[in-house]
Amino acid sequence: MITPVLLSGGIGSRLWPVSREAHPKQFQPLAGELSMLQETLARTRNLQATAPVVVCNEEHRFMVAEQLRELHIDPGALILEPQGRNTAPAVALAALHAVQADPEAILLVLPADHVIVDVASFVEAVGKALPAAQGGRLMTFGVVPSSPETGYGYIKCGDALGEGLYELERFVEKPDAETATGYLASGDYLWNSGMFLIGAAAYLEELGAHAPGILAACRAAMEQARADMDFVRPEAGAFAGCPSDSIDYAVMEHTARGGVVSLDCGWSDVGAWSALWEVAQRDGQGNAVRGDVVLDNCSDSYFYSDSRLVAATGVEDIVVVETADAVLVASRDRVQDVKNIVKALKTGD
Ligand code: GDD
Ligand code: MG
Repeated sequence: MITPVLLSGGIGSRLWPVSREAHPKQFQPLAGELSMLQETLARTRNLQATAPVVVCNEEHRFMVAEQLRELHIDPGALILEPQGRNTAPAVALAALHAVQADPEAILLVLPADHVIVDVASFVEAVGKALPAAQGGRLMTFGVVPSSPETGYGYIKCGDALGEGLYELERFVEKPDAETATGYLASGDYLWNSGMFLIGAAAYLEELGAHAPGILAACRAAMEQARADMDFVRPEAGAFAGCPSDSIDYAVMEHTARGGVVSLDCGWSDVGAWSALWEVAQRDGQGNAVRGDVVLDNCSDSYFYSDSRLVAATGVEDIVVVETADAVLVASRDRVQDVKNIVKALKTGD
């Protein structure tokens, strides 16, 4: 049986001022009616799956519990990290929890901050990947790349295993711009979507082989975990000693048991405001608007109003995000730099 594992540990600093440390982007309705966490949870209803497991920071537990309650979803567990150690440990905690109940458990790892337009195609890809995952492969979901994005992992497909299914020949996490441009031009590489379908036991074996320190720390933390209703708390001391690394660097770049299923479902990692502009419905001038906004002669811009009327005239290619206590104005091609503003605000520079 598939166990959905939602990763909800990020802070989303590039989506400031809407995304804040205490109230990160995945808990907010940025792209649809529901929050991104809820959209991700709702998507899993279309799969034959057990109750979902959410891995998140201790501080976000009530927000996560409330968002599940709103959808009338009973979680399998909410695993609470005392602090973030990146995704390799987060998935390890979920895998260690899942194998206790079912040694054959298959995890569908889902970042809680992605947009998927065509849910039927996503469900179809999961179904295609399932037999390979049951056979012990660590399955990635590969998306045809449209730009030399350096924030993504790149996957080279090997021999075909079936229709739209391949062995994973090579996985390169976040290459530099020159390498990414070469990969794009070659036509041989797909983007790693950041979702995975993996046997819990197979993942733990591969983690033990390639990042034994992470496995040991997570195992110790889960052996002494405390359960309190749906909340599962890994032991803080053991988890504090866990190395911090992503599943991509720690496991996927090294494993010889990787696989790829191709995914064409309008997938997007909503990392920065420009991504929200891209997935949003736009008017004839290319503007995407959310909230109370009046425009005159504007084009190819994104406007987000939270608490006041936003009006603009004669601007193009910009992003404006209004909230009660802060307003962001940015050039649409510089929105990655919003994280610099957040950093400066934190340090008071
Ligand atoms: N629980 C928990 N704990 N979740 C975490 C932690 C953590 O310590 N760190 C990150 N996450 C969550 C994030 O909130 C996000 O939903 C997901 O795990 C992935 O982490 P990101 O930090 O967003 O990764 P990325 O976007 O840089 O890279 C990954 O995704 C790309 C596609 O969006 C990689 O898998 C890339 O290869 C991939 O291309
Ligand atoms: Mg991401």
